[in-house]
Amino acid sequence: MKTIIEPFRIKVTEPLQIISKEKRKEALKKAHNNVFLLNSEDCSIDLLTDSGTGAMSTKQWAAMMLGDESYAGSPSFRRFENTVKEITGMKYVFPTHQGRAAEGILAVTRIKKGDVIPNNSHFDTTRANIEFVGAKALDLICPEGLDNAREAPFKGNIDTKKLESVIKEYGKENIPFVMLTVTNNTSGGQPASMKNIRDTKVILQNYNIPLVIDVCRFAENAYFIKQRETGYKEKSLLEIAREMFKYADAATMSLKKDGLVNIGGFLVCNDDEWAEDFKNALILREGFITYGGLAGRDLEAASVGLMEALDSDYQQYRHATVQYLAKAMDQYKIPYVKPVGGHAVFIDARAFIPHIKPLEYPGIALVNALYISGGIRSVELGSVMFGHYDNSGTEQPAPLELVRLAIPRRVYTQSHFDYIVEVFQELKDEVRQLKGYKITYQPKFLRHFTCHFESL
Ligand code: F0G
Repeated sequence: MKTIIEPFRIKVTEPLQIISKEKRKEALKKAHNNVFLLNSEDCSIDLLTDSGTGAMSTKQWAAMMLGDESYAGSPSFRRFENTVKEITGMKYVFPTHQGRAAEGILAVTRIKKGDVIPNNSHFDTTRANIEFVGAKALDLICPEGLDNAREAPFKGNIDTKKLESVIKEYGKENIPFVMLTVTNNTSGGQPASMKNIRDTKVILQNYNIPLVIDVCRFAENAYFIKQRETGYKEKSLLEIAREMFKYADAATMSLKKDGLVNIGGFLVCNDDEWAEDFKNALILREGFITYGGLAGRDLEAASVGLMEALDSDYQQYRHATVQYLAKAMDQYKIPYVKPVGGHAVFIDARAFIPHIKPLEYPGIALVNALYISGGIRSVELGSVMFGHYDNSGTEQPAPLELVRLAIPRRVYTQSHFDYIVEVFQELKDEVRQLKGYKITYQPKFLRHFTCHFESL
Protein backbone atom coordinates (compact mmCIF):
# COMPACT_ATOMS: atom_id res chain seq x y z
CA MET A 1 0.00 0.00 0.00
CA LYS A 2 1.21 3.51 -0.78
CA THR A 3 2.06 5.99 1.99
CA ILE A 4 -1.02 7.53 3.54
CA ILE A 5 -0.69 11.23 2.83
CA GLU A 6 -2.42 14.25 4.32
CA PRO A 7 -5.73 14.60 2.45
CA PHE A 8 -5.17 18.38 2.29
CA ARG A 9 -2.47 20.87 1.37
CA ILE A 10 -1.40 23.89 3.40
CA LYS A 11 -2.75 27.30 2.45
CA VAL A 12 -2.01 29.39 5.52
CA THR A 13 0.99 29.06 7.81
CA GLU A 14 1.58 30.14 11.38
CA PRO A 15 5.10 30.83 12.70
CA LEU A 16 6.46 28.38 15.21
CA GLN A 17 9.18 29.68 17.54
CA ILE A 18 12.02 27.68 18.97
CA ILE A 19 13.43 29.44 22.03
CA SER A 20 16.72 28.38 23.67
CA LYS A 21 16.96 25.79 26.42
CA GLU A 22 18.01 28.52 28.86
CA LYS A 23 14.91 30.55 28.01
CA ARG A 24 12.73 27.43 28.44
CA LYS A 25 14.18 26.84 31.90
CA GLU A 26 13.39 30.42 32.85
CA ALA A 27 9.88 30.18 31.42
CA LEU A 28 9.10 26.94 33.30
CA LYS A 29 10.39 28.41 36.55
CA LYS A 30 8.16 31.45 36.07
CA ALA A 31 5.25 29.05 35.42
CA HIS A 32 5.86 27.35 38.81
CA ASN A 33 6.86 24.18 36.93
CA ASN A 34 3.31 23.77 35.64
CA VAL A 35 3.19 23.73 31.82
CA PHE A 36 -0.44 24.92 31.90
CA LEU A 37 0.94 28.25 33.15
CA LEU A 38 3.43 28.68 30.26
CA ASN A 39 2.92 31.20 27.46
CA SER A 40 2.10 29.29 24.28
CA GLU A 41 4.75 31.24 22.28
CA ASP A 42 7.33 29.56 24.50
CA CYS A 43 6.18 26.09 23.35
CA SER A 44 7.52 24.89 20.01
CA ILE A 45 5.41 21.78 19.58
CA ASP A 46 2.24 22.10 21.59
CA LEU A 47 0.80 18.67 22.41
CA LEU A 48 -0.98 19.85 25.55
CA THR A 49 -4.32 19.02 24.01
CA ASP A 50 -6.16 18.10 20.83
CA SER A 51 -9.00 20.32 22.03
CA GLY A 52 -9.73 23.45 20.03
CA THR A 53 -6.24 23.33 18.54
CA GLY A 54 -7.06 21.89 15.11
CA ALA A 55 -6.77 23.64 11.75
CA MET A 56 -10.00 24.51 9.96
CA SER A 57 -10.56 23.76 6.29
CA THR A 58 -11.22 26.27 3.49
CA LYS A 59 -14.88 25.18 3.56
CA GLN A 60 -15.11 25.92 7.28
CA TRP A 61 -13.54 29.36 6.90
CA ALA A 62 -15.87 30.09 4.01
CA ALA A 63 -18.87 28.93 6.04
CA MET A 64 -17.93 31.35 8.81
CA MET A 65 -18.76 34.27 6.52
CA LEU A 66 -22.33 32.96 6.33
CA GLY A 67 -22.68 33.24 10.10
CA ASP A 68 -25.91 35.01 11.00
CA GLU A 69 -25.42 36.72 14.33
CA SER A 70 -29.07 37.28 15.19
CA TYR A 71 -29.86 36.75 18.86
CA ALA A 72 -32.79 34.46 18.05
CA GLY A 73 -33.80 32.23 15.17
CA SER A 74 -30.59 32.43 13.13
CA PRO A 75 -30.30 30.23 10.01
CA SER A 76 -26.80 29.31 11.25
CA PHE A 77 -28.45 27.56 14.17
CA ARG A 78 -30.85 25.73 11.88
CA ARG A 79 -27.98 24.50 9.71
CA PHE A 80 -26.16 23.38 12.86
CA GLU A 81 -29.26 21.72 14.27
CA ASN A 82 -29.88 19.84 11.00
CA THR A 83 -26.31 18.53 10.88
CA VAL A 84 -26.35 17.44 14.52
CA LYS A 85 -29.73 15.77 14.03
CA GLU A 86 -28.51 14.06 10.86
CA ILE A 87 -25.62 12.51 12.81
CA THR A 88 -27.22 11.88 16.19
CA GLY A 89 -30.86 11.33 15.26
CA MET A 90 -31.78 13.09 18.53
CA LYS A 91 -34.91 15.16 18.94
CA TYR A 92 -33.44 18.17 20.77
CA VAL A 93 -30.18 20.00 20.07
CA PHE A 94 -28.69 22.62 22.42
CA PRO A 95 -25.49 24.42 21.46
CA THR A 96 -23.07 25.21 24.31
CA HIS A 97 -19.79 27.10 24.39
CA GLN A 98 -17.86 23.89 25.04
CA GLY A 99 -18.21 20.34 26.32
CA ARG A 100 -18.00 21.12 30.01
CA ALA A 101 -20.89 23.57 29.71
CA ALA A 102 -23.04 20.73 28.36
CA GLU A 103 -21.84 18.57 31.28
CA GLY A 104 -22.61 21.36 33.74
CA ILE A 105 -26.18 21.71 32.46
CA LEU A 106 -26.65 17.94 32.59
CA ALA A 107 -25.28 17.81 36.15
CA VAL A 108 -27.34 20.66 37.63
CA THR A 109 -30.58 19.50 36.01
CA ARG A 110 -30.43 15.71 36.34
CA ILE A 111 -28.24 14.87 39.35
CA LYS A 112 -29.05 15.26 43.03
CA LYS A 113 -26.74 15.12 46.02
CA GLY A 114 -25.75 11.55 46.89
CA ASP A 115 -26.37 10.17 43.38
CA VAL A 116 -23.88 7.93 41.65
CA ILE A 117 -22.82 8.30 37.99
CA PRO A 118 -20.93 5.34 36.53
CA ASN A 119 -18.87 5.77 33.34
CA ASN A 120 -16.18 3.76 31.55
CA SER A 121 -13.87 6.60 32.69
CA HIS A 122 -14.94 10.12 33.50
CA PHE A 123 -12.94 12.94 31.98
CA ASP A 124 -11.73 15.46 34.57
CA THR A 125 -14.35 18.14 33.81
CA THR A 126 -17.14 15.55 33.79
CA ARG A 127 -16.02 14.24 37.16
CA ALA A 128 -15.72 17.77 38.54
CA ASN A 129 -19.23 18.73 37.36
CA ILE A 130 -20.67 15.61 39.00
CA GLU A 131 -18.76 16.08 42.25
CA PHE A 132 -19.68 19.76 42.31
CA VAL A 133 -23.36 18.86 42.74
CA GLY A 134 -22.50 16.40 45.52
CA ALA A 135 -22.66 13.15 43.55
CA LYS A 136 -20.16 10.37 43.14
CA ALA A 137 -18.38 9.72 39.80
CA LEU A 138 -17.45 6.05 39.34
CA ASP A 139 -14.97 4.70 36.78
CA LEU A 140 -15.81 1.17 35.63
CA ILE A 141 -13.17 0.60 32.98
CA CYS A 142 -12.79 -2.98 31.72
CA PRO A 143 -9.82 -4.90 33.21
CA GLU A 144 -7.72 -4.78 30.02
CA GLY A 145 -8.08 -0.98 30.08
CA LEU A 146 -5.90 -0.88 33.18
CA ASP A 147 -3.12 -2.97 31.66
CA ASN A 148 -0.95 -0.55 29.68
CA ALA A 149 1.05 -3.22 27.91
CA ARG A 150 -1.83 -5.46 26.86
CA GLU A 151 -2.96 -5.24 23.25
CA ALA A 152 -6.74 -5.43 22.95
CA PRO A 153 -9.01 -3.82 20.35
CA PHE A 154 -11.46 -2.05 22.67
CA LYS A 155 -9.69 -1.14 25.88
CA GLY A 156 -12.04 1.79 26.40
CA ASN A 157 -15.02 -0.46 27.14
CA ILE A 158 -17.01 -0.22 30.33
CA ASP A 159 -16.98 -3.36 32.49
CA THR A 160 -20.62 -4.41 32.06
CA LYS A 161 -20.47 -6.95 34.92
CA LYS A 162 -19.21 -4.27 37.28
CA LEU A 163 -21.92 -1.96 35.98
CA GLU A 164 -24.64 -4.42 36.96
CA SER A 165 -23.18 -4.93 40.41
CA VAL A 166 -22.85 -1.17 40.92
CA ILE A 167 -26.52 -0.73 40.00
CA LYS A 168 -27.46 -3.41 42.53
CA GLU A 169 -25.17 -1.95 45.20
CA TYR A 170 -26.29 1.68 44.94
CA GLY A 171 -29.86 1.13 43.71
CA LYS A 172 -31.26 2.32 40.39
CA GLU A 173 -33.08 5.19 42.14
CA ASN A 174 -29.67 6.72 42.95
CA ILE A 175 -28.35 6.44 39.41
CA PRO A 176 -30.07 9.12 37.28
CA PHE A 177 -28.04 8.03 34.23
CA VAL A 178 -24.95 6.09 33.22
CA MET A 179 -22.27 7.58 30.97
CA LEU A 180 -19.95 6.18 28.32
CA THR A 181 -17.03 8.22 27.01
CA VAL A 182 -15.99 7.58 23.40
CA THR A 183 -13.16 7.40 22.85
CA ASN A 184 -12.08 6.90 26.43
CA ASN A 185 -9.68 9.81 26.87
CA THR A 186 -8.72 9.08 30.48
CA SER A 187 -7.67 5.52 29.75
CA GLY A 188 -5.51 6.34 26.74
CA GLY A 189 -7.89 7.46 24.00
CA GLN A 190 -9.03 3.86 23.68
CA PRO A 191 -12.25 3.04 21.82
CA ALA A 192 -15.43 1.43 23.10
CA SER A 193 -16.92 -1.21 20.81
CA MET A 194 -20.43 -1.06 19.39
CA LYS A 195 -21.12 -4.31 21.21
CA ASN A 196 -20.13 -2.71 24.51
CA ILE A 197 -22.34 0.32 23.87
CA ARG A 198 -25.24 -1.97 22.88
CA ASP A 199 -24.72 -4.31 25.88
CA THR A 200 -24.65 -1.32 28.21
CA LYS A 201 -27.92 -0.07 26.76
CA VAL A 202 -29.53 -3.51 27.18
CA ILE A 203 -28.52 -3.67 30.86
CA LEU A 204 -29.72 -0.12 31.52
CA GLN A 205 -33.07 -0.76 29.84
CA ASN A 206 -33.74 -3.49 32.41
CA TYR A 207 -33.40 -0.92 35.17
CA ASN A 208 -34.92 1.97 33.28
CA ILE A 209 -31.73 4.02 33.58
CA PRO A 210 -30.90 6.40 30.69
CA LEU A 211 -27.57 6.25 28.85
CA VAL A 212 -25.66 9.47 28.18
CA ILE A 213 -22.67 9.29 25.85
CA ASP A 214 -19.79 11.75 26.01
CA VAL A 215 -19.13 11.92 22.28
CA CYS A 216 -16.18 14.34 22.01
CA ARG A 217 -14.28 11.90 19.80
CA PHE A 218 -17.21 9.98 18.30
CA ALA A 219 -15.80 10.02 14.75
CA GLU A 220 -12.44 8.61 15.89
CA ASN A 221 -14.34 5.93 17.81
CA ALA A 222 -16.43 5.17 14.72
CA TYR A 223 -13.23 4.67 12.69
CA PHE A 224 -11.91 2.19 15.27
CA ILE A 225 -15.20 0.27 15.08
CA LYS A 226 -14.96 0.21 11.28
CA GLN A 227 -11.39 -1.11 11.47
CA ARG A 228 -11.70 -3.54 14.34
CA GLU A 229 -15.24 -4.77 14.88
CA THR A 230 -16.80 -7.52 12.81
CA GLY A 231 -19.67 -6.36 10.63
CA TYR A 232 -18.66 -2.70 10.27
CA LYS A 233 -16.01 -2.75 7.55
CA GLU A 234 -18.41 -1.85 4.77
CA LYS A 235 -20.35 0.75 6.76
CA SER A 236 -19.69 4.47 6.44
CA LEU A 237 -18.49 6.39 9.49
CA LEU A 238 -21.78 8.27 9.47
CA GLU A 239 -23.75 5.01 9.61
CA ILE A 240 -21.59 3.76 12.47
CA ALA A 241 -21.97 7.04 14.34
CA ARG A 242 -25.74 6.91 13.89
CA GLU A 243 -25.88 3.43 15.35
CA MET A 244 -23.85 4.58 18.36
CA PHE A 245 -26.29 7.42 18.97
CA LYS A 246 -29.24 5.08 18.60
CA TYR A 247 -28.34 3.48 21.94
CA ALA A 248 -28.08 6.83 23.75
CA ASP A 249 -30.81 8.85 25.43
CA ALA A 250 -28.65 11.96 25.49
CA ALA A 251 -25.11 13.03 24.63
CA THR A 252 -22.62 15.73 25.56
CA MET A 253 -20.13 16.94 22.97
CA SER A 254 -17.07 19.13 22.84
CA LEU A 255 -16.93 20.35 19.26
CA LYS A 256 -13.30 21.29 19.93
CA LYS A 257 -12.41 17.69 19.17
CA ASP A 258 -14.36 15.91 16.42
CA GLY A 259 -16.26 19.09 15.51
CA LEU A 260 -12.92 20.28 14.08
CA VAL A 261 -13.46 23.78 15.45
CA ASN A 262 -11.70 25.97 17.98
CA ILE A 263 -14.68 26.46 20.27
CA GLY A 264 -18.11 24.90 20.81
CA GLY A 265 -20.10 22.05 22.22
CA PHE A 266 -23.61 20.65 22.34
CA LEU A 267 -26.07 18.72 24.42
CA VAL A 268 -28.65 16.50 22.71
CA CYS A 269 -31.50 14.38 24.06
CA ASN A 270 -34.76 12.68 23.15
CA ASP A 271 -36.77 13.11 26.33
CA ASP A 272 -39.20 16.06 26.47
CA GLU A 273 -38.77 16.64 30.21
CA TRP A 274 -34.99 16.58 30.02
CA ALA A 275 -35.15 19.00 27.08
CA GLU A 276 -37.33 21.41 29.05
CA ASP A 277 -34.81 21.40 31.92
CA PHE A 278 -31.86 21.77 29.56
CA LYS A 279 -33.52 24.68 27.79
CA ASN A 280 -34.04 26.61 31.01
CA ALA A 281 -30.53 25.97 32.30
CA LEU A 282 -29.07 26.85 28.89
CA ILE A 283 -30.75 30.25 28.81
CA LEU A 284 -29.59 30.98 32.34
CA ARG A 285 -26.00 29.91 31.84
CA GLU A 286 -25.06 29.98 28.16
CA GLY A 287 -27.44 32.10 26.12
CA PHE A 288 -30.57 31.77 24.04
CA ILE A 289 -31.45 28.33 22.66
CA THR A 290 -30.42 29.19 19.10
CA TYR A 291 -26.84 30.17 19.95
CA GLY A 292 -26.01 28.80 23.42
CA GLY A 293 -22.77 30.65 24.09
CA LEU A 294 -21.55 30.57 20.49
CA ALA A 295 -21.46 33.03 17.62
CA GLY A 296 -23.42 32.21 14.46
CA ARG A 297 -20.10 31.79 12.63
CA ASP A 298 -19.00 29.16 15.16
CA LEU A 299 -22.17 27.17 14.50
CA GLU A 300 -21.48 27.35 10.75
CA ALA A 301 -17.88 26.15 11.10
CA ALA A 302 -18.98 23.29 13.36
CA SER A 303 -21.70 22.15 10.94
CA VAL A 304 -19.05 21.70 8.26
CA GLY A 305 -16.42 20.31 10.67
CA LEU A 306 -18.65 17.57 12.07
CA MET A 307 -19.12 16.13 8.59
CA GLU A 308 -15.42 16.51 7.70
CA ALA A 309 -14.57 14.48 10.82
CA LEU A 310 -16.68 11.63 9.41
CA ASP A 311 -14.75 11.60 6.13
CA SER A 312 -12.91 8.29 5.98
CA ASP A 313 -9.85 9.73 4.18
CA TYR A 314 -9.50 12.25 6.96
CA GLN A 315 -9.84 9.58 9.67
CA GLN A 316 -7.38 7.30 7.90
CA TYR A 317 -4.82 10.14 7.87
CA ARG A 318 -5.63 11.10 11.45
CA HIS A 319 -5.05 7.57 12.75
CA ALA A 320 -1.92 7.21 10.61
CA THR A 321 -0.31 10.24 12.28
CA VAL A 322 -0.88 8.87 15.78
CA GLN A 323 0.38 5.46 14.67
CA TYR A 324 3.50 7.01 13.12
CA LEU A 325 4.48 8.46 16.48
CA ALA A 326 3.65 5.21 18.29
CA LYS A 327 5.78 3.16 15.90
CA ALA A 328 8.76 5.40 16.60
CA MET A 329 8.19 4.91 20.35
CA ASP A 330 8.31 1.15 19.71
CA GLN A 331 11.58 1.54 17.88
CA TYR A 332 13.18 3.36 20.82
CA LYS A 333 11.45 1.19 23.43
CA ILE A 334 9.58 4.06 25.07
CA PRO A 335 6.67 2.48 27.01
CA TYR A 336 3.21 3.73 26.06
CA VAL A 337 -0.39 2.56 26.28
CA LYS A 338 -0.91 -0.13 23.66
CA PRO A 339 -2.43 -0.26 21.17
CA VAL A 340 -2.18 3.47 20.57
CA GLY A 341 -5.44 5.42 20.94
CA GLY A 342 -7.16 7.78 18.53
CA HIS A 343 -5.98 11.25 19.45
CA ALA A 344 -2.78 10.86 21.37
CA VAL A 345 0.14 8.72 22.42
CA PHE A 346 -0.02 8.12 26.16
CA ILE A 347 3.47 7.50 27.54
CA ASP A 348 3.56 5.23 30.57
CA ALA A 349 5.53 7.45 32.93
CA ARG A 350 5.57 4.88 35.71
CA ALA A 351 7.32 2.35 33.45
CA PHE A 352 9.55 4.97 31.82
CA ILE A 353 10.69 6.56 35.12
CA PRO A 354 10.29 3.74 37.68
CA HIS A 355 12.53 5.41 40.27
CA ILE A 356 10.01 8.24 40.91
CA LYS A 357 7.18 7.24 43.26
CA PRO A 358 3.56 7.94 42.17
CA LEU A 359 3.08 10.63 44.81
CA GLU A 360 6.25 12.35 43.62
CA TYR A 361 4.50 12.65 40.25
CA PRO A 362 6.58 10.85 37.60
CA GLY A 363 4.22 12.27 34.95
CA ILE A 364 5.10 15.84 35.89
CA ALA A 365 8.81 14.94 35.86
CA LEU A 366 8.45 13.69 32.27
CA VAL A 367 6.23 16.58 31.12
CA ASN A 368 8.75 19.11 32.43
CA ALA A 369 11.74 17.24 30.99
CA LEU A 370 10.08 17.16 27.54
CA TYR A 371 9.57 20.89 27.72
CA ILE A 372 13.11 21.69 28.83
CA SER A 373 14.70 19.29 26.31
CA GLY A 374 12.69 20.18 23.24
CA GLY A 375 10.05 22.82 23.93
CA ILE A 376 7.39 20.12 23.65
CA ARG A 377 4.34 20.76 25.80
CA SER A 378 2.46 17.65 26.94
CA VAL A 379 0.14 16.89 29.83
CA GLU A 380 0.15 14.61 32.87
CA LEU A 381 -2.81 12.26 33.31
CA GLY A 382 -1.79 10.66 36.55
CA SER A 383 -1.81 11.33 40.25
CA VAL A 384 -1.90 15.12 39.88
CA MET A 385 -4.95 15.06 37.60
CA PHE A 386 -6.73 12.02 38.99
CA GLY A 387 -5.29 11.45 42.48
CA HIS A 388 -7.58 12.08 45.43
CA TYR A 389 -7.60 12.44 49.20
CA ASP A 390 -9.25 9.62 51.19
CA ASN A 391 -11.49 10.13 54.23
CA SER A 392 -8.47 10.44 56.52
CA GLY A 393 -7.04 13.19 54.29
CA THR A 394 -4.26 11.00 52.89
CA GLU A 395 -3.40 11.53 49.25
CA GLN A 396 -4.06 8.46 47.11
CA PRO A 397 -2.36 8.01 43.74
CA ALA A 398 -4.21 7.43 40.47
CA PRO A 399 -4.19 3.90 38.99
CA LEU A 400 -2.09 5.04 36.01
CA GLU A 401 0.72 7.58 35.59
CA LEU A 402 0.44 8.70 31.97
CA VAL A 403 1.82 11.57 29.94
CA ARG A 404 -0.32 12.43 26.97
CA LEU A 405 1.10 13.66 23.69
CA ALA A 406 -2.18 14.88 22.20
CA ILE A 407 -2.08 15.46 18.48
CA PRO A 408 -3.91 18.58 17.26
CA ARG A 409 -5.93 17.83 14.13
CA ARG A 410 -4.42 18.75 10.74
CA VAL A 411 -1.66 20.86 12.35
CA TYR A 412 1.77 19.19 12.49
CA THR A 413 3.73 17.56 9.66
CA GLN A 414 5.88 14.43 9.58
CA SER A 415 9.09 16.37 10.36
CA HIS A 416 7.47 17.78 13.48
CA PHE A 417 6.80 14.20 14.53
CA ASP A 418 10.40 13.22 13.74
CA TYR A 419 11.58 16.08 15.96
CA ILE A 420 9.42 14.81 18.84
CA VAL A 421 10.97 11.37 18.47
CA GLU A 422 14.50 12.86 18.54
CA VAL A 423 13.70 14.62 21.81
CA PHE A 424 12.55 11.32 23.32
CA GLN A 425 15.70 9.60 22.08
CA GLU A 426 17.79 12.21 23.87
CA LEU A 427 15.69 11.97 27.02
CA LYS A 428 16.07 8.21 27.19
CA ASP A 429 19.70 8.63 28.24
CA GLU A 430 18.89 11.27 30.87
CA VAL A 431 15.81 9.69 32.38
CA ARG A 432 17.59 8.19 35.41
CA GLN A 433 18.57 11.64 36.61
CA LEU A 434 15.04 13.03 36.61
CA LYS A 435 13.63 14.08 39.96
CA GLY A 436 10.09 14.04 41.29
CA TYR A 437 8.02 17.03 42.35
CA LYS A 438 5.94 18.23 45.28
CA ILE A 439 2.90 20.50 45.13
CA THR A 440 3.33 23.84 46.87
CA TYR A 441 -0.07 25.33 46.01
CA GLN A 442 -3.31 23.73 44.87
CA PRO A 443 -6.88 24.94 44.33
CA LYS A 444 -9.93 23.00 45.50
CA PHE A 445 -11.10 21.68 42.11
CA LEU A 446 -9.22 20.57 38.98
CA ARG A 447 -5.90 21.23 40.67
CA HIS A 448 -3.70 20.25 37.73
CA PHE A 449 -4.57 23.40 35.78
CA THR A 450 -3.20 25.94 38.22
CA CYS A 451 -1.23 24.19 40.98
CA HIS A 452 2.43 25.02 41.61
CA PHE A 453 5.24 22.45 41.75
CA GLU A 454 8.69 22.42 43.26
CA SER A 455 11.38 19.95 42.23
CA LEU A 456 12.43 17.51 44.98
N1 F0G B 1 -15.12 14.93 27.74
C1 F0G B 1 -13.95 14.47 27.26
C2 F0G B 1 -13.77 13.01 27.01
C3 F0G B 1 -12.92 15.37 27.01
O1 F0G B 1 -11.77 14.90 26.54
C4 F0G B 1 -13.13 16.75 27.25
C5 F0G B 1 -12.07 17.71 27.02
C6 F0G B 1 -14.36 17.18 27.72
C7 F0G B 1 -15.34 16.22 27.95
C8 F0G B 1 -14.67 18.63 27.98
O2 F0G B 1 -14.78 19.36 26.82
O3 F0G B 1 -12.91 21.03 26.90
O4 F0G B 1 -14.89 21.40 25.44
O5 F0G B 1 -15.10 21.60 27.88
N2 F0G B 1 -10.89 17.39 26.86
C9 F0G B 1 -9.78 18.25 26.56
C10 F0G B 1 -8.53 17.43 26.59
C11 F0G B 1 -9.71 19.50 27.36
O6 F0G B 1 -7.44 18.05 26.59
O7 F0G B 1 -8.60 16.21 26.58
P1 F0G B 1 -14.40 20.92 26.77
